[in-house]
Amino acid sequence: MALLDEQDAYGRLLLDAFEGRRAVEVVERDDGFLMGSAAAPANYFAPFRAWPAHQRQAMRLVRGRVLDVGCGAGRVALHLQQRGQEVVAIDLSPLAVEVSRRRGVRDARVLSIAEVDKRVGPIDTIVMMGNTFGLFGSAGRAKRLLRRLNSIGSDRRRIVAEVLDPYATDDPDHLSYHERNRQRGRMPGQLRIRIRHRHCTTPWFDYLFVSPAELEALVEGTGWSLKRTIPSSGGLYVAVLE
Ligand SMILES: C[S@@+](CC[C@H](N)C(=O)[O-])C[C@H]1O[C@@H](n2cnc3c(N)ncnc32)[C@H](O)[C@@H]1O
Repeated sequence: MALLDEQDAYGRLLLDAFEGRRAVEVVERDDGFLMGSAAAPANYFAPFRAWPAHQRQAMRLVRGRVLDVGCGAGRVALHLQQRGQEVVAIDLSPLAVEVSRRRGVRDARVLSIAEVDKRVGPIDTIVMMGNTFGLFGSAGRAKRLLRRLNSIGSDRRRIVAEVLDPYATDDPDHLSYHERNRQRGRMPGQLRIRIRHRHCTTPWFDYLFVSPAELEALVEGTGWSLKRTIPSSGGLYVAVLE
């Protein structure tokens, strides 16, 4: 199900940044907390040499034919293409896909992670950079989607995903949000958010932050297991599932 024009806040943000207009990423959480980042849009266009070390290290584990989930402006797909790998890049946002194509991503498709099926062809590595593990949304949705991703994978399938550990904070606003979630029977790091840019607003969606221990429990029974993590700063880490 594609986003309507007025819902494509992420894509509009990326298009503005691509065409040299001012772009600030604004994320609204359902408790009213607003997060703004003037740095984020530029990061989505950064060349490989400017990526954080843990992301560069993660690329060494990306093998074979690749599915880039939530490709954004296509920086990961472009890097992998340049080193000779075949990449299918997908994003829910039509404008993100347009920006990716204009930047040279050969196979960029408007497709939600929830709609991935065998039409993407056999995949060796599923890449989820830019903290895109969050798209799994909730424990239940993560289990469902992980089983689905299992069915499109080759015999040597692997997921290389950047994840945020929600507990690496002492910000009282975040700690009380965790508590609010616990009281509602949600995982502490299960955010309900929407993205805003100019006149565009995405629908509300769940975005999941998990610790390595929570991740290990989450993947149980899905056919995937946590093989290793690459730690970074600020709670970010890369998880490798096989
Ligand atoms: C934080 S950006 C990450 C961009 C890119 N992976 C990177 O590292 O530069 C997240 C992207 O996920 C996309 N997205 C959001 N919901 C999605 C969904 N259900 N399926 C696929 N992509 C989605 C957004 O449109 C956005 O482009």
